[in-house]
Amino acid sequence: MKQQLVFCGIVFSSLLTVPALAQDNSVQLSMGKVSLEFHLSAAGSPEYSVLFDQKQVIKPSAMGFVLKDADSVLYTDFVVRKIEQSSKDETWEPVWGEVRSIRNHYKEAKVQLQQRNAPFRFLTIEFRVFEDGVGFRYVFPHQPRLNYFVVSKELSAFNLTGDHKAFWIPGDYDTNEYLYSTTRISEVDNRKMVEASTDIAVRTAPDPNAVQTPLMLKSADGLYINIHEAALLNYPAMQLHVDRNSFSLTASLVPDAVGNKAYLHAPAKTPWRTIIVSDKAPDLLNSRMVLNLNEPSVITNTGWIKPMKFAGVWWEMQVAKSTWSLSDRADTLDANGKLIPNGKHGANSDNVKRYIDFAAKNGIRGVLVEGWNTGWEDWFGNWKEEVFDFVTPYPDFDVNDLRQYAASKGVELIMHHETSGSATNYDRRMDSAFRFMKEHGYHSVKTGYVGRIIPRGEPHDGQWMVNHFERMARKAAGYQISFEAHESMRPTGLHRTFPNWMASEAGRGNEYNAFSTGSPPEHETILPFTRLMGGPMDYTPGIFKMKGYCWYAPERQMHTTLVKQLALYVTMYSPLQMVADLPENYAAHDDAFQFIRDVPVDWDDTKVIAAEPGDYVAYARKEKGKENWFIGAITDEDSRRLNASLSFLEKGKQYTATIYADGPGADWKTNPEAYMIKTYTVDQSTVLKLDLAPGGGAAVSIKPLTAPAPKGVARYK
Ligand code: NOJ
Ligand code: CA
Repeated sequence: MKQQLVFCGIVFSSLLTVPALAQDNSVQLSMGKVSLEFHLSAAGSPEYSVLFDQKQVIKPSAMGFVLKDADSVLYTDFVVRKIEQSSKDETWEPVWGEVRSIRNHYKEAKVQLQQRNAPFRFLTIEFRVFEDGVGFRYVFPHQPRLNYFVVSKELSAFNLTGDHKAFWIPGDYDTNEYLYSTTRISEVDNRKMVEASTDIAVRTAPDPNAVQTPLMLKSADGLYINIHEAALLNYPAMQLHVDRNSFSLTASLVPDAVGNKAYLHAPAKTPWRTIIVSDKAPDLLNSRMVLNLNEPSVITNTGWIKPMKFAGVWWEMQVAKSTWSLSDRADTLDANGKLIPNGKHGANSDNVKRYIDFAAKNGIRGVLVEGWNTGWEDWFGNWKEEVFDFVTPYPDFDVNDLRQYAASKGVELIMHHETSGSATNYDRRMDSAFRFMKEHGYHSVKTGYVGRIIPRGEPHDGQWMVNHFERMARKAAGYQISFEAHESMRPTGLHRTFPNWMASEAGRGNEYNAFSTGSPPEHETILPFTRLMGGPMDYTPGIFKMKGYCWYAPERQMHTTLVKQLALYVTMYSPLQMVADLPENYAAHDDAFQFIRDVPVDWDDTKVIAAEPGDYVAYARKEKGKENWFIGAITDEDSRRLNASLSFLEKGKQYTATIYADGPGADWKTNPEAYMIKTYTVDQSTVLKLDLAPGGGAAVSIKPLTAPAPKGVARYK
C-alpha cells in the first residue's frame, strides 16, 4: 500500500510505507581510545555502548522517547533506513576562554530510523565520537505523522559497568546550590541533603535517587567518566535517575508546571548527551568536547564582549554589614509618602564611589552595584510578579553622577537585575531595562532568579526557563550587552554560541561562606570536575578576611586559607572574576593582593598540572597575548606537596616566579591568614615544590625576565 500525503506544502511520498532496510543496522566508530557501538535490538530498539581502550564504559543502553499523544512509543519497532558517516577536523577560536584555539576533531554517524509499522515515524540519532568522549542527540525530522508533539519521557540510559564512586548533587528542578556528596552509585539517596539545605531558597527534588549533571564518576579500574549535556536549547535540563541495583542511569527531564517535559515542533532536535572519559583525571579538565558540540557564535562582531575582573557593593550585603534595601519596612512611609531609610543602604553614591576608587587604583575594570534600584523591601519570598522595574534608582543612588565619576576613573559600572524569580516581569521589561543601561553607560549585567519562578509552577531548569535564557542572550546581544546569571540552569557550553553569556552561578559559590555554614575545603576540588564542565562559574573568589566577618554569626569563617582564595582565580575558570572582599580587607594584605591585581581573566593556554576530584587541582595558564603564566593549586582538608614542572615555559628564556604560599602552620581552620611571598628566577627546567596547607593552596605568577634578576632574587632550587 502506497500513500501520498500533502503536508505543509510538501509532498511526502513513500514515507508512509514499510520502510526499506539499510544494509547494516549497526555502527562502530572509534577515535583514539574511545569507541562507540550502535545497534538495533531484535525488537527494533536503538542501543548504544561506549568503550575506552577496549574497556566498557557504558554497557548497551536504551535510547528513544515516550511521547504524549496516542501513538506514543518512539523507542522500538524501528528499522535503520540509512546511516551517513562523516568526519571533521577543524580548529576554531573562542572569543574568550581557557585556550586561544580549540580543535574540533570527530567522527560522526547519523542513523536514520523509521518505525516498521504505523505511524511509520522517523527518528534520527546523531553520534559524534571524539578522542575524549562521545556525544549523541536526537533529531526529529520533518514528517507527516509527527508535527507538534510533547515529550513525556526521554529514555536515554547510561548503563554503568559497576558501582562507581560518584561525585553528585541532588537532581533538583530549581537549584544547583548544594554541597557535593561522594558515594558509591548504590548509595545515592539525596533526601538528607535536600532536607538539610535550608539555606537554599527553593528546593524541588521529588526523586530521592536523582542526581544533577555534570555527574563525575570514577570506576574501580581507574576510569574517570563525566556525564552531562551540551547545547541545552528549547528543552528541559537533563538530570539522571540512578538505579542503585543495576547501576543504570536514565535521563530524567525537568517537568514543566503541568508535568510535561518538552513541547517540540518537527523538525526539532534535543541537546547532546555527553560522555567524557579517560584513565587520567586531568584529561577531563582539558576536554573541550562540550564546547565543540555547541554551534559557533551567532554574534559576528564580538569586540564589545570584554572579560574582566570586577569589584562590587556586594560582600558587605552578604555579611549583613549593609542592606540591598533602602528601608527595613516596605509598608511604612514617611509624611511625604517616601520610604524611611534604614541608614544601612549599601548602594549609596558615596559608598559606590569608594568602590570605584578602589577599582581604579588597582586596575580592576568593573564595579557591580547591587541594591541600586527600588523593590528590595519585599524582594523575594512572596511569589509576587511585579517587584522590580529595573529602571528606578533609589534616591541615594545618583545614576548620572556615578556614570560620570566611573568614566572619569576609567571604570565601568556593572548593572544588577535581580528578578526574584519573576521571569515574566523581566521578559516584559527587558527592552526598557537594556535601554536604561545603554543610556547610562552600562555594558554588562548580573541577573538573578532567587525564589519561585513566575510563570507560577515553572521550575528554574525547565524548558520555559531555558527559552527565557535564550531570549535573554539574543536580546542582550542586540544591545551589545554581556551578562552573567545567578540561579540559572547549569551551563552546557552555550557560551560558544552566545559569548555574551559570560558566566553563570548555578552552583554553590563562595557566598555560602557568608550567609550559611559554608562549604568544606574539598568543594572547590570537585567543582572543576562537575559544575565547571559545562562552563564558567561566577564563584566570587578573593575573600581575605577569613574570620569574624559576619557580626550576627561571629564564629563563621572561610573554609580555605587566604592563599587558596588567590589560587581560585586560576583553578575556577571564568572570564568574569569578582574581587569579592571589601576594599579595607585587601588593604590589610596589600602584598598578597598583588596576585589579584596581576592575574588575568583571559588565556592563551591552559595546562592541568595535577588533579584528582575531591582531593586537589592545579593549573598553569598563560595570559592572553602575553608571555606571563599563572599557577593556581588547591587542596582539600589534607595538606600535600604538589610538584609543578615549568616545562611549559619557553626554552632558553629566564623568568621570575613570585610564589604566594601558605605560611608555616597555616591551616584553613586555625590559621588561615598565614602566608609567605617569595620571588625566584626560574626556567623551563624548574620544578616548583608547592606545599599546600590543610584547606590551602598556592598561587604563582611567572613573568619573563627582561633585565638581569633584581638583587636578592635567587635561583629557585
Ligand atoms: C543570590 C546571588 O547568588 C547573590 O550573588 C546576590 O547577591 C543575591 N542573590 C541578591 O540578588
Ligand atoms: Ca545564588
